[in-house]
Amino acid sequence: MTTTPRNYHITTFGCQMNKADSERMAGILDEMGLTFVEDPNDADIVLYNTCTIRDNAEQKVYSYLGRQAKRKQENPNLILAIAGCVAQQEGDSLMRRVPELDLVMGPQHANRLRDLLEQVLDGSQVVATEPIHIVEDITKPRRDSDVTAWVNVIYGCNERCTYCVVPGVRGVEQSRTPEAIRAEMEELGRQGYKEVTLLGQNIDAYGRDLPGSTPDGRHKHTLTDLLYYVHDVPGIDRIRFATSHPRYFTERLIRACAELPKVCEHFHIPFQSGDNDILKAMARGYTHEKYRRIIDTIRKYIPDAAISGDAIAGFPGETEEQFQNTLKLVEDIGFDQLNTAAYSPRPGTPAAVWENQLSEEVKADRLQRLNRLVAVKAAERSRRYCDRVEEVLVEGHNPKDPTQVMGRTRGNRLTFFKGDLAELKGRLVKVKITEVRAFSLTGEPVELYANV
Ligand code: SAH
Ligand code: SF4
Ligand code: F3S
Repeated sequence: MTTTPRNYHITTFGCQMNKADSERMAGILDEMGLTFVEDPNDADIVLYNTCTIRDNAEQKVYSYLGRQAKRKQENPNLILAIAGCVAQQEGDSLMRRVPELDLVMGPQHANRLRDLLEQVLDGSQVVATEPIHIVEDITKPRRDSDVTAWVNVIYGCNERCTYCVVPGVRGVEQSRTPEAIRAEMEELGRQGYKEVTLLGQNIDAYGRDLPGSTPDGRHKHTLTDLLYYVHDVPGIDRIRFATSHPRYFTERLIRACAELPKVCEHFHIPFQSGDNDILKAMARGYTHEKYRRIIDTIRKYIPDAAISGDAIAGFPGETEEQFQNTLKLVEDIGFDQLNTAAYSPRPGTPAAVWENQLSEEVKADRLQRLNRLVAVKAAERSRRYCDRVEEVLVEGHNPKDPTQVMGRTRGNRLTFFKGDLAELKGRLVKVKITEVRAFSLTGEPVELYANV
Protein backbone atom coordinates (compact mmCIF):
# COMPACT_ATOMS: atom_id res chain seq x y z
CA MET A 1 0.00 0.00 0.00
CA THR A 2 1.48 3.30 -1.01
CA THR A 3 -0.97 5.76 0.51
CA THR A 4 -2.79 5.63 3.80
CA PRO A 5 -6.58 5.63 3.47
CA ARG A 6 -8.32 8.71 4.83
CA ASN A 7 -11.97 8.00 4.36
CA TYR A 8 -14.41 5.15 3.96
CA HIS A 9 -17.84 4.29 2.68
CA ILE A 10 -20.17 1.53 3.91
CA THR A 11 -23.30 0.36 2.12
CA THR A 12 -25.56 -1.90 4.16
CA PHE A 13 -27.69 -4.41 2.28
CA GLY A 14 -29.33 -6.50 4.96
CA CYS A 15 -31.50 -6.84 8.04
CA GLN A 16 -31.40 -5.03 11.37
CA MET A 17 -28.53 -7.21 12.52
CA ASN A 18 -26.58 -6.38 9.40
CA LYS A 19 -27.26 -2.68 10.06
CA ALA A 20 -26.08 -3.06 13.64
CA ASP A 21 -22.88 -4.71 12.36
CA SER A 22 -22.34 -1.79 9.96
CA GLU A 23 -22.71 0.68 12.80
CA ARG A 24 -20.08 -1.18 14.81
CA MET A 25 -17.71 -1.39 11.84
CA ALA A 26 -18.20 2.33 11.13
CA GLY A 27 -17.37 2.98 14.79
CA ILE A 28 -14.11 1.06 14.40
CA LEU A 29 -13.18 3.01 11.25
CA ASP A 30 -13.96 6.32 13.00
CA GLU A 31 -11.70 5.29 15.87
CA MET A 32 -8.97 4.60 13.31
CA GLY A 33 -9.25 8.26 12.35
CA LEU A 34 -11.05 7.74 9.05
CA THR A 35 -13.97 9.86 7.85
CA PHE A 36 -17.25 8.54 6.50
CA VAL A 37 -18.23 9.64 2.97
CA GLU A 38 -21.68 9.23 1.37
CA ASP A 39 -20.42 8.48 -2.13
CA PRO A 40 -18.46 5.24 -2.55
CA ASN A 41 -16.68 6.81 -5.53
CA ASP A 42 -14.99 9.30 -3.20
CA ALA A 43 -13.85 6.68 -0.71
CA ASP A 44 -10.42 5.14 -0.12
CA ILE A 45 -12.07 2.16 1.57
CA VAL A 46 -15.33 0.79 0.20
CA LEU A 47 -17.00 -1.74 2.44
CA TYR A 48 -20.13 -3.58 1.35
CA ASN A 49 -21.97 -5.22 4.21
CA THR A 50 -23.99 -7.81 2.37
CA CYS A 51 -27.13 -9.95 2.63
CA THR A 52 -27.89 -13.27 1.00
CA ILE A 53 -31.34 -14.04 2.37
CA ARG A 54 -32.75 -14.15 -1.17
CA ASP A 55 -31.11 -14.36 -4.57
CA ASN A 56 -31.96 -10.76 -5.53
CA ALA A 57 -30.18 -9.46 -2.42
CA GLU A 58 -27.07 -11.42 -3.38
CA GLN A 59 -27.11 -10.35 -7.05
CA LYS A 60 -27.36 -6.70 -6.08
CA VAL A 61 -24.04 -7.01 -4.26
CA TYR A 62 -22.28 -8.34 -7.37
CA SER A 63 -23.41 -5.43 -9.49
CA TYR A 64 -22.22 -2.91 -6.89
CA LEU A 65 -18.97 -4.79 -6.50
CA GLY A 66 -18.39 -4.93 -10.26
CA ARG A 67 -18.42 -1.14 -10.46
CA GLN A 68 -15.91 -0.73 -7.63
CA ALA A 69 -13.67 -3.46 -9.05
CA LYS A 70 -13.47 -1.39 -12.26
CA ARG A 71 -12.64 1.70 -10.26
CA LYS A 72 -9.87 -0.18 -8.54
CA GLN A 73 -8.24 -0.99 -11.86
CA GLU A 74 -7.67 2.76 -12.30
CA ASN A 75 -7.03 3.45 -8.64
CA PRO A 76 -5.00 0.59 -7.15
CA ASN A 77 -4.92 2.27 -3.74
CA LEU A 78 -8.61 1.70 -3.29
CA ILE A 79 -9.34 -0.88 -0.59
CA LEU A 80 -12.29 -3.04 -1.47
CA ALA A 81 -13.88 -5.02 1.36
CA ILE A 82 -16.92 -7.22 1.55
CA ALA A 83 -18.48 -8.12 4.88
CA GLY A 84 -21.67 -9.81 6.00
CA CYS A 85 -23.60 -12.81 4.82
CA VAL A 86 -22.55 -13.05 1.15
CA ALA A 87 -18.94 -12.83 2.31
CA GLN A 88 -19.53 -15.69 4.72
CA GLN A 89 -21.40 -17.78 2.18
CA GLU A 90 -18.90 -17.36 -0.65
CA GLY A 91 -15.64 -16.95 1.30
CA ASP A 92 -12.56 -17.72 -0.75
CA SER A 93 -14.48 -18.18 -3.97
CA LEU A 94 -15.49 -14.52 -3.82
CA MET A 95 -11.80 -13.60 -3.91
CA ARG A 96 -11.42 -15.73 -7.02
CA ARG A 97 -14.52 -14.27 -8.64
CA VAL A 98 -13.51 -10.66 -7.84
CA PRO A 99 -9.72 -10.66 -7.53
CA GLU A 100 -9.74 -6.90 -6.88
CA LEU A 101 -11.10 -7.63 -3.40
CA ASP A 102 -8.76 -6.98 -0.48
CA LEU A 103 -10.90 -8.30 2.34
CA VAL A 104 -13.71 -10.83 2.68
CA MET A 105 -15.08 -11.05 6.21
CA GLY A 106 -18.04 -12.91 7.69
CA PRO A 107 -20.48 -11.33 10.15
CA GLN A 108 -18.83 -12.94 13.17
CA HIS A 109 -15.67 -10.97 12.37
CA ALA A 110 -17.27 -7.51 12.32
CA ASN A 111 -15.67 -6.46 15.62
CA ARG A 112 -12.23 -7.49 14.28
CA LEU A 113 -12.29 -5.03 11.39
CA ARG A 114 -9.31 -3.01 12.61
CA ASP A 115 -7.14 -6.07 12.87
CA LEU A 116 -8.17 -7.32 9.45
CA LEU A 117 -7.61 -3.95 7.79
CA GLU A 118 -4.15 -3.74 9.28
CA GLN A 119 -3.33 -7.04 7.59
CA VAL A 120 -4.64 -5.59 4.32
CA LEU A 121 -2.52 -2.47 4.78
CA ASP A 122 0.47 -4.79 5.25
CA GLY A 123 -0.20 -6.04 1.76
CA SER A 124 -2.26 -9.22 2.29
CA GLN A 125 -5.52 -10.29 0.74
CA VAL A 126 -7.53 -11.44 3.73
CA VAL A 127 -10.41 -13.91 4.06
CA ALA A 128 -11.92 -14.15 7.55
CA THR A 129 -14.82 -16.57 7.56
CA GLU A 130 -13.87 -19.19 10.13
CA PRO A 131 -16.34 -19.58 13.01
CA ILE A 132 -15.17 -17.70 16.07
CA HIS A 133 -16.34 -16.76 19.50
CA ILE A 134 -17.64 -13.24 18.98
CA VAL A 135 -15.44 -10.76 20.73
CA GLU A 136 -17.47 -8.86 23.33
CA ASP A 137 -18.14 -5.37 22.15
CA ILE A 138 -15.10 -3.28 22.59
CA THR A 139 -16.34 -1.01 19.84
CA LYS A 140 -18.19 2.26 19.96
CA PRO A 141 -20.75 2.04 17.17
CA ARG A 142 -21.33 4.99 14.89
CA ARG A 143 -25.11 4.87 15.05
CA ASP A 144 -27.29 6.14 12.24
CA SER A 145 -29.85 7.64 14.61
CA ASP A 146 -29.31 9.57 17.81
CA VAL A 147 -32.76 8.69 19.15
CA THR A 148 -33.19 4.96 18.57
CA ALA A 149 -30.51 2.27 18.78
CA TRP A 150 -30.06 -1.44 18.14
CA VAL A 151 -28.56 -3.58 20.86
CA ASN A 152 -27.57 -7.14 19.96
CA VAL A 153 -28.53 -9.66 22.59
CA ILE A 154 -27.92 -12.92 20.75
CA TYR A 155 -25.92 -13.61 17.59
CA GLY A 156 -26.49 -16.56 15.25
CA CYS A 157 -29.30 -19.08 15.02
CA ASN A 158 -29.51 -22.77 15.90
CA GLU A 159 -32.74 -23.42 13.99
CA ARG A 160 -32.74 -25.30 10.74
CA CYS A 161 -35.60 -23.83 8.74
CA THR A 162 -35.23 -25.61 5.42
CA TYR A 163 -35.27 -22.43 3.30
CA CYS A 164 -32.93 -20.27 5.33
CA VAL A 165 -29.25 -19.34 4.97
CA VAL A 166 -28.96 -17.56 8.30
CA PRO A 167 -27.67 -20.46 10.46
CA GLY A 168 -25.07 -21.18 7.78
CA VAL A 169 -23.82 -17.61 7.55
CA ARG A 170 -24.33 -16.34 11.10
CA GLY A 171 -23.22 -19.45 12.95
CA VAL A 172 -24.39 -20.88 16.25
CA GLU A 173 -26.21 -18.91 18.91
CA GLN A 174 -24.01 -16.73 21.12
CA SER A 175 -25.76 -14.71 23.81
CA ARG A 176 -24.24 -11.63 25.33
CA THR A 177 -24.37 -11.44 29.10
CA PRO A 178 -27.19 -9.45 30.71
CA GLU A 179 -24.51 -7.24 32.28
CA ALA A 180 -22.96 -6.35 28.90
CA ILE A 181 -26.39 -5.62 27.43
CA ARG A 182 -27.37 -3.45 30.36
CA ALA A 183 -24.06 -1.59 30.29
CA GLU A 184 -24.56 -0.78 26.58
CA MET A 185 -28.08 0.44 27.29
CA GLU A 186 -26.90 2.59 30.20
CA GLU A 187 -24.33 4.20 27.94
CA LEU A 188 -27.07 4.83 25.35
CA GLY A 189 -29.25 6.38 28.04
CA ARG A 190 -26.37 8.69 29.05
CA GLN A 191 -25.88 9.71 25.43
CA GLY A 192 -29.53 10.73 25.15
CA TYR A 193 -30.97 7.76 23.25
CA LYS A 194 -34.63 7.14 24.04
CA GLU A 195 -35.45 3.83 22.41
CA VAL A 196 -33.62 0.52 22.23
CA THR A 197 -34.45 -2.46 20.05
CA LEU A 198 -32.98 -5.68 21.38
CA LEU A 199 -31.89 -7.86 18.46
CA GLY A 200 -31.57 -11.55 17.72
CA GLN A 201 -32.48 -13.74 14.73
CA ASN A 202 -34.33 -15.92 17.21
CA ILE A 203 -34.46 -13.70 20.23
CA ASP A 204 -36.49 -16.22 22.23
CA ALA A 205 -33.37 -18.39 22.29
CA TYR A 206 -31.62 -15.72 24.33
CA GLY A 207 -29.62 -17.10 27.23
CA ARG A 208 -29.79 -20.79 26.32
CA ASP A 209 -26.04 -20.88 25.86
CA LEU A 210 -25.09 -18.81 28.90
CA PRO A 211 -23.45 -20.45 31.91
CA GLY A 212 -25.96 -21.15 34.65
CA SER A 213 -28.64 -22.02 32.12
CA THR A 214 -30.25 -25.41 31.93
CA PRO A 215 -30.65 -27.35 28.70
CA ASP A 216 -34.37 -28.03 29.28
CA GLY A 217 -35.32 -24.47 28.43
CA ARG A 218 -36.19 -23.55 32.02
CA HIS A 219 -32.98 -21.56 32.23
CA LYS A 220 -32.78 -18.50 34.34
CA HIS A 221 -31.37 -16.29 31.60
CA THR A 222 -34.37 -15.88 29.33
CA LEU A 223 -35.49 -12.96 27.22
CA THR A 224 -38.20 -12.34 29.81
CA ASP A 225 -35.63 -12.18 32.60
CA LEU A 226 -33.54 -9.87 30.47
CA LEU A 227 -36.47 -7.47 29.99
CA TYR A 228 -36.98 -7.26 33.74
CA TYR A 229 -33.23 -6.79 34.21
CA VAL A 230 -32.82 -3.89 31.76
CA HIS A 231 -36.19 -2.27 32.17
CA ASP A 232 -35.19 0.50 34.53
CA VAL A 233 -32.17 1.78 32.57
CA PRO A 234 -32.29 5.56 33.06
CA GLY A 235 -33.08 7.66 30.01
CA ILE A 236 -34.38 4.80 27.88
CA ASP A 237 -38.14 5.31 27.51
CA ARG A 238 -38.97 2.55 25.10
CA ILE A 239 -37.79 -1.00 24.63
CA ARG A 240 -38.55 -3.20 21.63
CA PHE A 241 -37.27 -6.63 20.66
CA ALA A 242 -37.10 -8.73 17.48
CA THR A 243 -37.37 -11.35 16.06
CA SER A 244 -39.68 -13.69 17.94
CA HIS A 245 -40.05 -17.34 17.00
CA PRO A 246 -43.52 -18.88 17.54
CA ARG A 247 -41.95 -22.14 18.64
CA TYR A 248 -40.35 -20.63 21.72
CA PHE A 249 -42.66 -17.70 22.45
CA THR A 250 -43.97 -17.85 26.04
CA GLU A 251 -46.94 -16.49 27.94
CA ARG A 252 -44.50 -15.26 30.56
CA LEU A 253 -42.96 -13.00 27.93
CA ILE A 254 -46.37 -11.56 27.06
CA ARG A 255 -47.08 -10.93 30.73
CA ALA A 256 -43.75 -9.13 31.08
CA CYS A 257 -44.61 -6.93 28.10
CA ALA A 258 -48.01 -6.16 29.61
CA GLU A 259 -46.44 -5.37 32.97
CA LEU A 260 -43.38 -3.39 31.99
CA PRO A 261 -44.37 0.11 30.88
CA LYS A 262 -41.31 0.75 28.71
CA VAL A 263 -41.77 -2.38 26.60
CA CYS A 264 -43.78 -1.34 23.55
CA GLU A 265 -46.99 -3.13 22.59
CA HIS A 266 -45.61 -4.47 19.35
CA PHE A 267 -44.80 -8.08 18.51
CA HIS A 268 -42.92 -9.13 15.41
CA ILE A 269 -43.58 -12.83 15.05
CA PRO A 270 -42.96 -14.33 11.59
CA PHE A 271 -45.27 -17.22 10.74
CA GLN A 272 -43.99 -17.97 7.20
CA SER A 273 -47.04 -20.05 6.17
CA GLY A 274 -50.59 -20.65 7.35
CA ASP A 275 -50.52 -24.29 6.30
CA ASN A 276 -49.42 -27.05 8.65
CA ASP A 277 -47.88 -29.30 5.98
CA ILE A 278 -45.85 -26.41 4.60
CA LEU A 279 -44.80 -25.40 8.12
CA LYS A 280 -43.64 -28.96 8.62
CA ALA A 281 -41.70 -28.96 5.35
CA MET A 282 -40.13 -25.69 6.49
CA ALA A 283 -39.19 -27.38 9.81
CA ARG A 284 -40.64 -24.47 11.75
CA GLY A 285 -41.76 -26.56 14.71
CA TYR A 286 -45.28 -25.16 15.21
CA THR A 287 -48.73 -25.30 13.67
CA HIS A 288 -50.97 -22.46 12.53
CA GLU A 289 -53.21 -23.28 15.50
CA LYS A 290 -50.31 -22.63 17.87
CA TYR A 291 -49.58 -19.36 16.10
CA ARG A 292 -53.22 -18.30 16.46
CA ARG A 293 -53.15 -19.19 20.15
CA ILE A 294 -50.10 -16.98 20.67
CA ILE A 295 -51.86 -14.03 19.05
CA ASP A 296 -55.03 -14.71 21.08
CA THR A 297 -52.99 -14.73 24.28
CA ILE A 298 -51.24 -11.50 23.34
CA ARG A 299 -54.62 -9.89 22.69
CA LYS A 300 -55.99 -11.21 25.96
CA TYR A 301 -53.29 -9.40 27.91
CA ILE A 302 -52.76 -6.45 25.56
CA PRO A 303 -55.90 -6.01 23.41
CA ASP A 304 -54.46 -3.21 21.30
CA ALA A 305 -51.06 -4.80 20.62
CA ALA A 306 -49.65 -4.32 17.13
CA ILE A 307 -48.75 -7.57 15.41
CA SER A 308 -46.36 -7.92 12.50
CA GLY A 309 -44.64 -10.87 10.91
CA ASP A 310 -42.95 -12.38 7.87
CA ALA A 311 -44.40 -14.79 5.33
CA ILE A 312 -43.11 -16.66 2.29
CA ALA A 313 -45.22 -17.26 -0.82
CA GLY A 314 -44.55 -20.19 -3.13
CA PHE A 315 -42.48 -22.48 -0.92
CA PRO A 316 -41.58 -25.71 -2.83
CA GLY A 317 -44.63 -27.91 -3.25
CA GLU A 318 -47.09 -25.28 -1.99
CA THR A 319 -50.49 -25.94 -3.58
CA GLU A 320 -53.02 -23.23 -4.28
CA GLU A 321 -55.07 -24.60 -1.38
CA GLN A 322 -52.11 -24.41 0.98
CA PHE A 323 -51.44 -20.87 -0.15
CA GLN A 324 -55.09 -20.08 0.61
CA ASN A 325 -54.37 -21.12 4.20
CA THR A 326 -51.73 -18.40 4.36
CA LEU A 327 -54.24 -15.86 3.03
CA LYS A 328 -56.76 -17.09 5.58
CA LEU A 329 -54.33 -16.60 8.44
CA VAL A 330 -53.57 -13.07 7.24
CA GLU A 331 -57.29 -12.39 6.95
CA ASP A 332 -58.04 -13.77 10.43
CA ILE A 333 -55.15 -12.22 12.35
CA GLY A 334 -55.25 -8.79 10.78
CA PHE A 335 -51.57 -7.90 10.80
CA ASP A 336 -50.50 -4.31 11.27
CA GLN A 337 -47.64 -5.06 8.93
CA LEU A 338 -46.26 -8.12 7.18
CA ASN A 339 -42.95 -8.57 5.36
CA THR A 340 -43.56 -10.87 2.45
CA ALA A 341 -41.32 -12.55 -0.11
CA ALA A 342 -41.51 -15.10 -2.87
CA TYR A 343 -39.56 -18.21 -1.98
CA SER A 344 -35.99 -18.03 -3.25
CA PRO A 345 -33.83 -21.18 -3.34
CA ARG A 346 -30.63 -20.57 -1.39
CA PRO A 347 -27.30 -22.38 -1.69
CA GLY A 348 -26.67 -24.97 0.99
CA THR A 349 -30.27 -25.09 2.23
CA PRO A 350 -32.30 -28.33 2.03
CA ALA A 351 -35.35 -26.91 0.24
CA ALA A 352 -33.24 -25.50 -2.61
CA VAL A 353 -32.59 -28.96 -4.04
CA TRP A 354 -36.10 -30.34 -3.75
CA GLU A 355 -37.70 -31.17 -7.05
CA ASN A 356 -41.09 -29.63 -6.34
CA GLN A 357 -40.05 -26.00 -7.00
CA LEU A 358 -42.79 -23.70 -8.25
CA SER A 359 -42.46 -21.52 -11.33
CA GLU A 360 -41.49 -17.86 -10.98
CA GLU A 361 -44.91 -16.92 -12.38
CA VAL A 362 -46.82 -18.84 -9.70
CA LYS A 363 -44.62 -17.42 -6.94
CA ALA A 364 -44.94 -13.86 -8.23
CA ASP A 365 -48.70 -14.19 -8.60
CA ARG A 366 -49.11 -15.49 -5.05
CA LEU A 367 -46.85 -12.81 -3.66
CA GLN A 368 -48.90 -10.13 -5.38
CA ARG A 369 -52.18 -11.53 -4.04
CA LEU A 370 -50.71 -11.78 -0.56
CA ASN A 371 -49.44 -8.20 -0.69
CA ARG A 372 -52.82 -6.91 -1.77
CA LEU A 373 -54.49 -8.56 1.21
CA VAL A 374 -51.76 -7.32 3.55
CA ALA A 375 -52.36 -3.71 2.44
CA VAL A 376 -56.11 -4.06 2.92
CA LYS A 377 -55.74 -5.50 6.41
CA ALA A 378 -53.08 -2.95 7.39
CA ALA A 379 -55.42 -0.15 6.31
CA GLU A 380 -58.17 -1.68 8.46
CA ARG A 381 -55.79 -1.87 11.40
CA SER A 382 -54.71 1.75 10.87
CA ARG A 383 -58.31 2.91 11.14
CA ARG A 384 -58.40 2.15 14.85
CA TYR A 385 -55.95 4.97 15.38
CA CYS A 386 -58.23 7.61 13.89
CA ASP A 387 -59.06 10.38 16.44
CA ARG A 388 -56.98 8.65 19.06
CA VAL A 389 -54.12 10.29 20.93
CA GLU A 390 -50.90 8.35 20.44
CA GLU A 391 -47.48 8.77 22.00
CA VAL A 392 -44.95 9.45 19.23
CA LEU A 393 -41.18 9.42 19.67
CA VAL A 394 -39.79 11.97 17.21
CA GLU A 395 -36.88 10.63 15.17
CA GLY A 396 -36.44 12.87 12.14
CA HIS A 397 -38.02 14.76 9.27
CA ASN A 398 -40.80 13.46 7.10
CA PRO A 399 -38.59 12.84 4.03
CA LYS A 400 -41.47 13.96 1.79
CA ASP A 401 -42.37 17.12 3.71
CA PRO A 402 -39.68 18.99 5.65
CA THR A 403 -42.29 21.01 7.57
CA GLN A 404 -43.30 17.76 9.26
CA VAL A 405 -41.47 15.58 11.73
CA MET A 406 -41.55 11.80 11.71
CA GLY A 407 -41.74 9.36 14.57
CA ARG A 408 -43.32 6.11 15.64
CA THR A 409 -46.17 5.15 17.90
CA ARG A 410 -45.56 2.53 20.55
CA GLY A 411 -47.18 0.08 18.13
CA ASN A 412 -44.49 1.05 15.57
CA ARG A 413 -46.72 2.96 13.12
CA LEU A 414 -44.88 5.70 11.28
CA THR A 415 -46.50 9.01 12.22
CA PHE A 416 -46.06 12.50 10.76
CA PHE A 417 -47.05 15.87 12.17
CA LYS A 418 -46.14 19.53 11.70
CA GLY A 419 -43.30 20.64 13.92
CA ASP A 420 -39.75 21.81 14.30
CA LEU A 421 -37.29 18.93 14.40
CA ALA A 422 -34.62 20.90 16.25
CA GLU A 423 -37.06 21.32 19.10
CA LEU A 424 -38.78 17.95 18.99
CA LYS A 425 -36.13 15.37 18.16
CA GLY A 426 -35.98 12.66 20.82
CA ARG A 427 -39.17 13.88 22.51
CA LEU A 428 -42.25 11.84 23.28
CA VAL A 429 -45.17 13.83 21.95
CA LYS A 430 -48.88 13.13 22.35
CA VAL A 431 -50.35 13.32 18.87
CA LYS A 432 -54.01 13.27 17.91
CA ILE A 433 -54.32 11.14 14.78
CA THR A 434 -56.27 12.86 12.02
CA GLU A 435 -55.39 10.87 8.89
CA VAL A 436 -54.71 7.17 8.50
CA ARG A 437 -53.10 5.22 5.67
CA ALA A 438 -52.20 1.52 5.48
CA PHE A 439 -48.70 1.90 6.90
CA SER A 440 -48.56 5.45 8.27
CA LEU A 441 -50.51 8.10 10.14
CA THR A 442 -50.73 11.90 10.26
CA GLY A 443 -51.78 13.92 13.28
CA GLU A 444 -51.60 17.07 15.34
CA PRO A 445 -49.60 17.44 18.53
CA VAL A 446 -51.83 17.93 21.56
CA GLU A 447 -49.24 17.94 24.28
CA LEU A 448 -45.62 18.74 23.64
CA TYR A 449 -42.76 17.54 25.78
CA ALA A 450 -44.60 14.68 27.43
CA ASN A 451 -41.28 13.51 28.81
CA VAL A 452 -39.83 16.67 30.32
N1 SAH B 1 -35.15 -15.18 12.20
C1 SAH B 1 -36.33 -14.75 11.62
C2 SAH B 1 -36.21 -14.29 10.18
C3 SAH B 1 -34.92 -14.26 9.50
S1 SAH B 1 -34.86 -13.98 7.78
C4 SAH B 1 -37.36 -15.85 11.73
O1 SAH B 1 -37.09 -16.94 12.15
O2 SAH B 1 -38.48 -15.63 11.35
C5 SAH B 1 -36.13 -12.80 7.47
C6 SAH B 1 -37.23 -13.33 6.61
O3 SAH B 1 -36.80 -13.59 5.31
C7 SAH B 1 -37.82 -14.64 7.08
O4 SAH B 1 -38.72 -14.47 8.11
C8 SAH B 1 -38.47 -15.17 5.84
O5 SAH B 1 -39.80 -14.75 5.74
C9 SAH B 1 -37.64 -14.57 4.74
N2 SAH B 1 -36.82 -15.59 4.09
C10 SAH B 1 -35.81 -16.29 4.64
N3 SAH B 1 -35.30 -17.16 3.73
C11 SAH B 1 -36.02 -16.99 2.60
C12 SAH B 1 -35.99 -17.60 1.31
N4 SAH B 1 -35.12 -18.57 1.03
N5 SAH B 1 -36.87 -17.18 0.38
C13 SAH B 1 -37.77 -16.21 0.67
N6 SAH B 1 -37.84 -15.60 1.86
C14 SAH B 1 -36.98 -15.99 2.82
FE1 SF4 C 1 -33.68 -18.58 9.53
FE2 SF4 C 1 -35.35 -20.10 10.86
FE3 SF4 C 1 -33.19 -19.13 12.09
FE4 SF4 C 1 -35.16 -17.51 11.43
S1 SF4 C 1 -35.27 -19.19 12.89
S2 SF4 C 1 -33.01 -17.16 11.10
S3 SF4 C 1 -35.90 -18.36 9.52
S4 SF4 C 1 -33.23 -20.63 10.40
FE1 F3S D 1 -29.49 -11.00 5.24
FE2 F3S D 1 -27.66 -11.98 6.78
FE3 F3S D 1 -29.61 -10.53 7.79
S1 F3S D 1 -28.57 -12.99 5.07
S2 F3S D 1 -31.31 -10.95 6.44
S3 F3S D 1 -28.06 -9.83 6.40
S4 F3S D 1 -28.66 -12.29 8.72
